[in-house]
Amino acid sequence: MIDEKSTHRAAAIFLDRDGTLIEDVGTLANADDLRLFPDTIPALLKLQEKYTLFVITNQAAVAKGELTATQVAEVNQGLDALLAKAGVVIREWYVCPHQRKDGCSCIKPNPEFVLRAEQKYNLDLNRSFVIGDHPHDVYTADEQGVFGLYLLTGHGGKHLSELAQDKLVFHRISDAAEWISAHADHKNNIAQRIDQGARAIQNGGVAAFPTETVYGLGADVFQPDAVAQIFKIKGRPEWNPLIAHIADTTQMDLLAESVPDNARRLMDAFWPGPLTLVLPKRDAVPEIVTGGLPTVAIRMPAQPIALEFIRRCGTPVAAPSANRFSCTSPTTAQHVITQLGAQCPIVIDGGACRVGVESTVISFAAEAPVMLRPGGIFIEEIEKKIGDVETLAAPVEKSDSPASPGMLRNHYAPATKLSAYDKIPAEYANRSDVGVLLFSPSEKSYSGPVETLSGSGDPKEAAVNFFAALQRLDLRNLSEIVAEYAPDQGLGRAINNRLSKAANGRIDHHE
Ligand code: TXA
Ligand code: MG
Repeated sequence: MIDEKSTHRAAAIFLDRDGTLIEDVGTLANADDLRLFPDTIPALLKLQEKYTLFVITNQAAVAKGELTATQVAEVNQGLDALLAKAGVVIREWYVCPHQRKDGCSCIKPNPEFVLRAEQKYNLDLNRSFVIGDHPHDVYTADEQGVFGLYLLTGHGGKHLSELAQDKLVFHRISDAAEWISAHADHKNNIAQRIDQGARAIQNGGVAAFPTETVYGLGADVFQPDAVAQIFKIKGRPEWNPLIAHIADTTQMDLLAESVPDNARRLMDAFWPGPLTLVLPKRDAVPEIVTGGLPTVAIRMPAQPIALEFIRRCGTPVAAPSANRFSCTSPTTAQHVITQLGAQCPIVIDGGACRVGVESTVISFAAEAPVMLRPGGIFIEEIEKKIGDVETLAAPVEKSDSPASPGMLRNHYAPATKLSAYDKIPAEYANRSDVGVLLFSPSEKSYSGPVETLSGSGDPKEAAVNFFAALQRLDLRNLSEIVAEYAPDQGLGRAINNRLSKAANGRIDHHE
């Protein structure tokens, strides 16, 4: 609870500059070269209704002799003027000119700037937030109880693996602003949403929750009527079985009849994480969960909110991705709300999913393990643990392959027609009505809107951005989207699998 006294004090948002408010171009010496992200101003206008805004920027280039303190001050003044023109007030600009490795006290370990602001403006840090695109930004004020939100803009994608699992990440500053407005009392609000979701599940309802791969639409595995609602809400055919999500391995006994040694090796290596194991099922697992198959798919997600939610439910949670059948997968709470709307009134918002593509599905239904779906853990890593794994040959039309019901040709599709290419044909360059989804930056210029999945051509970063970028293009009323395949290895394979299925379009919804 927010105590009486603290409500009299102002709450603040501490914003990083490069990669958070403006594009990170490395060394920025001239205010004329700064480029605001398109949603920076709307996000700040919204935030300043309730928060005092500060900017804290690390300009290590000063210590390296690549920039002068005066140049930094000029860029800050330029940005301040630009924001002021739009009505945004930054209360104070703090500049750390040091290299982080030199261990200054501006930012770490004593976030001097935050403490200075607290004293000068009588701030309540427990209700304040930091938004930045580097793990340092988020850790900056942790000790003072300021809640850090991490952005995938700027360097966010590149450094994501250095960020602890329990930190929330967002694709854009506007997503972070939305989250803050719904979670002003962050600690209690997160716990409340988890509780509300868990109560709905216990009472035979459904709730959407974040995982590290995509958002799931959950119900109690052992309440068949509740599970039936999932199929109805998604418009998913009942022969396509669901994954049972668990929070600890003791819940395996409720679901799996036996666990082969190789499956156990994979559990030890990759759980909690984006790996699903298909194992012989216990009789007690309802048919509606498994599509009538003698096997059950099980996964322990790595997202801390997901784990806490499943623990609170006190039962394994059956959950497919929280989207309409055959449509793009949801990697933010907003995606779930857009696709499912009022049909799913409870969505626990845990920010953007950090893997961004679904789990890898490995079946132990037969002697030899078979990969049914490429996903977040790549096959190269799995084969290192258990030797050769077969790959299911061709995707199926419908339920003609009973052991692999989910391997449909059509899946993950936007409403806009999509085609995927190794190299995007030149004729699309002048089409302003065609959206372009690039794996990595291109020297070519396009007349239509362009989304680039990774500035450095990193498949992990590309996966995190993939579905969100696709959905942004989908909302722009284009006549077509053309996409570039990723290099076909590691996570690139999971992206290409989704792209080629998306290119086959959607299929009719089953009601
Ligand atoms: O990352 C994920 O796996 C996400 C999050 C929410 O955990 N879930 C997800 O669920 O992608 P869904 O329902 O969209 O995909 C589950 C896949 C489907 O292809 C389904 O056919 C397959 O797993 N599957 C489930 N049970 C199976 C079984 N017993 N045998 C073979 N395939 C199974
Ligand atoms: Mg930054």
